Amino acid sequence: MRYLVANLKMKLVSEQEHAEYCVALGEALKGVKKKKDVRLVVCPSFPFLGDFKKKLPKGAMLGAQDVHWEEVGAYTGGVSPRSLADFGVSFCLVGHSERREFFAETDEMVAKKVSACLRNAIQPVICIGETEAERAEGKTLAVLRRQVQAACGGVSREEFKRVIIAYEPRWAIGSDRTPSSDEILEVIISIRRSLVESFDRHEIDALPILYGGSVSADRARDILHTSGLSGVLVGREGLLPKELMKIADMLSDNSVKELL
Ligand code: PGA
Repeated sequence: MRYLVANLKMKLVSEQEHAEYCVALGEALKGVKKKKDVRLVVCPSFPFLGDFKKKLPKGAMLGAQDVHWEEVGAYTGGVSPRSLADFGVSFCLVGHSERREFFAETDEMVAKKVSACLRNAIQPVICIGETEAERAEGKTLAVLRRQVQAACGGVSREEFKRVIIAYEPRWAIGSDRTPSSDEILEVIISIRRSLVESFDRHEIDALPILYGGSVSADRARDILHTSGLSGVLVGREGLLPKELMKIADMLSDNSVKELL
């Protein structure tokens, strides 16, 4: 299975913008052949989850951008994983770098959110990534190892089957810069290695790893030639349904799949 996850962030704000987006996505989906091997996940902001549930075209699944780690309680502003599950949310971004940076989300909080998702039958898309400074200091792999091990520390082997990792270098997000295929490949290998003490080889090999950060239809083909990638997480491009469908085409394209 390949994944195409669209993180709409806080970029669409009005009801009308969301409604127009769903219509445009529906139109774009109509124009493409059904792709059983590509799972399209759209993550709108919280107030529009209910609306999206009704309006999202067939073929797209609902994802959330964040979640609280407790099911119920006095957590003003928090959104329970149980509410998300009730809403029909199947996926949830956890530990996006914007959450880590602007909302002081720590590895520990990310780990608790991952567990909360799994307890509620939501697939966590765990976002990890180094900052520009960490990259310059040669700390990329060490930072990613720490983030992966923390996030998966409390995950059982059974639960691990539902985990998805998204490698999103902080410096690549919104910047129109991307790492080379070789750099992404090195990261993929390192992510899998960092899990060998907790899970079996075949379990680790089955872990879907996505790439995110300035993915566009133009850049996707190069990125997707990185062996071992199971898909992409897009921000800006996710707002453009036609471009999104071009990426879906590439994900499902046999010539690319052979190299995956
Ligand atoms: P971008 O954002 O595709 O606009 O760089 C990606 C993300 O933040 O997930």
